[in-house]
Amino acid sequence: MTQTIDLRSDTVTQPTEAMREAMARAPVGDDVYGEDPTVRALEERAAHLLGKEAGLFCPSGTMANLLGVLSQTQPGDELLCDVESHVYYYEVGGVSRIGGVIPRTLPGDRGRLTPEQVTAALRQPDIHFPPTTLLCLENSHNRGGGSTYSVEETEALCRVAHAHGLRVHLDGARLFNAAIAQGVPAAQLAAPADTVMISLSKGLSAPVGSILCGPAETIARARKLRKLLGGGMRQAGVLAAAGLIALEQMVDRLVEDHARARRLAAALAEIPGIELDPATVETNIVIFQLAQMDEKTFLGALRAQGVLAGSPAPGRIRMVLHRHIGDGELEQAIRAVRRVMREAA
Ligand SMILES: Cc1ncc(COP(=O)(O)O)c(C=O)c1O
Repeated sequence: MTQTIDLRSDTVTQPTEAMREAMARAPVGDDVYGEDPTVRALEERAAHLLGKEAGLFCPSGTMANLLGVLSQTQPGDELLCDVESHVYYYEVGGVSRIGGVIPRTLPGDRGRLTPEQVTAALRQPDIHFPPTTLLCLENSHNRGGGSTYSVEETEALCRVAHAHGLRVHLDGARLFNAAIAQGVPAAQLAAPADTVMISLSKGLSAPVGSILCGPAETIARARKLRKLLGGGMRQAGVLAAAGLIALEQMVDRLVEDHARARRLAAALAEIPGIELDPATVETNIVIFQLAQMDEKTFLGALRAQGVLAGSPAPGRIRMVLHRHIGDGELEQAIRAVRRVMREAA
């Protein structure tokens, strides 16, 4: 039987053999007491890689983003973010429900905001307005099709925010994808932001975990808030061990996912009934529009060919490249899409 080709997300990646071995022999302790040496090593390594003072290991990117917001705001504050940003669109409204923070959403270009938009959204203090205290950015941008901010763009956005007294939280669930695509160290993309979260469990293949990095005093506050949310883990070193391998061994290979994403985009753009500008594909995410077919019919027909994909919106399809999609799987997936579109025509 042929194997399913799963393009739904890079979160489906399985831990590597090296990760499983490291997990089995990781020295561990009670991390709520600050006694797990492997968790501490991972937090220090991540903070160092991102040029920040401290790091906090979290069970998910959702919790790391929430802690990034909670540790830098007060209930009743307003934050600014792109209307398609993960923190607003996909995180169950946690910033409002748990943090009491009101998101003010701005329409980005494939998720990317401009300093002018941020400036225009900032209001003079007034008895009617909530204080605007945080800007959230996302790099690379999930619903934006893996679009990225450059170092200069990030600096310009953070300069505007800081000049008006806002902090900046960067959702870098796929920051290494952005860094590899731009040929810059992740630390340079993270430098202008106050806090940054990175995920280990997406393209980097670790089974679990994200890390929030930032100033020591902010991370200390986030550590206490993590306990409040029930995220204080005990012998979490078994998970952190896989995270260390993710940071050490899995970053450079992301370039392969990006090359295959470009190959996929070029092939899809040639297929009648698919609308896609390959120039918009910067990292490992490919999003395209179906000219006539609805997404459910397309995904069902594709599944029947052994290929899984996702849909971020009506008529739109998302495919994500990752470690389990080699050249053979990629060509098979392209052939499957061609067949589906041919049969539908
Ligand atoms: C950009 C972005 N931020 C945050 C998250 C949340 O991560 P998690 O699924 O670990 O909660 C995701 C997950 O896909 C994401 O794509």
